[in-house]
Amino acid sequence: MKLDGVQTRSIWLEPDGWRVGIFDQRKLPWQTQRLVLGTMGDAAVAIAGMATRGAPLIGAVAAYGLALALRADPSEAALAQAVEALAATRPTAVNLRWALERVRAVVSPLAPGKRAAAAYAEAARLCDEDVAVNRAIGDAGLPLIAALAERKSGAPVNILMHCNPGWLATVDWGTATAPVYLAHDAGFRVHVWVDETRPRNQGALTAFELAGHGVPHSYIVDNAGGHYFQRGAVDMVIVGTDRVAANGDVCNKIGTYLKALAARAHGVPFYVALPSSTYDPATPSGDAIPIEERSGSEVAAITGPDDAGLLVSAAVTRSPVRNPAFDVTPADLVTAYITEAGVLVGPQALAAAFPVKA
Ligand code: MRU
Repeated sequence: MKLDGVQTRSIWLEPDGWRVGIFDQRKLPWQTQRLVLGTMGDAAVAIAGMATRGAPLIGAVAAYGLALALRADPSEAALAQAVEALAATRPTAVNLRWALERVRAVVSPLAPGKRAAAAYAEAARLCDEDVAVNRAIGDAGLPLIAALAERKSGAPVNILMHCNPGWLATVDWGTATAPVYLAHDAGFRVHVWVDETRPRNQGALTAFELAGHGVPHSYIVDNAGGHYFQRGAVDMVIVGTDRVAANGDVCNKIGTYLKALAARAHGVPFYVALPSSTYDPATPSGDAIPIEERSGSEVAAITGPDDAGLLVSAAVTRSPVRNPAFDVTPADLVTAYITEAGVLVGPQALAAAFPVKA
């Protein structure tokens, strides 16, 4: 997608051909700053510190992080240590482990001298595939929006989104945003209710993306959704996810579950957009998904630019804080999963589309 009018991905190789570039998402949407990762440690710090975010993108950064590690030391011990260090950066999104195991499977059988180049090549393949997969999610989801547009005789289709399931959270296109971008480009009238997604305000990234693509949208506080459902102003929900368990339970940013409950109460379809890399058949149900508990400081203060554009923090409370970063939406609240293999209804359809490789 475009940033400041220039076609870009959210991760790239620097002109030197080995360092890795990303946007510093702690600064967006206020400042566009790029970070250059030159070591595995840089990649790990970027993921753990949320300079880079979103399940597919942290997988891509981890894959390149492994390549950086092997460039420095291609030994067996360094490989094992780098995989574990990168995997430990965040617990919930399964794409992280998926990407690391994918690169490890390619490099492990190779002589140490060949490992770094092979890891870079696999990381690049993974990124290209992510772009194609998200585009396919868009193609699969577009008819759902088109059908609602027809039913509404051309009135805007109101889509509620939570967190940032956009191109900044993937390599390009986004998961839940891909059908919306395609619908907008095809001339369908859409309007997106963008949940702010406290405490890290990932909704501000979604709004920034939608604005950049000219998609009509409104930024709302997380608690406003119920009101708009009640007024008939939400036609569908599309969210992304960080992990879908074998039974179809969906783990996504904290607050997603409440939106699924509201959607069910109002008879509004609740769709989950995911690449197969987010499907985790090894985890039986949502109860078994590790939920990241982040620092209370994220809730106890808000951050934004001052009049001079400098990012500053202001306290909200001095009380004890709990800060679970994700929640689980039970499978029975999910209308369908929008995937690169099409729109799938129920966990059996997911299992059939994405069988476990022997
Ligand atoms: O904690 P974050 O910012 O990494 O969480 C991002 C999300 O929860 C996204 O909605 C998610 O990764 C799925 S869609 C790309």
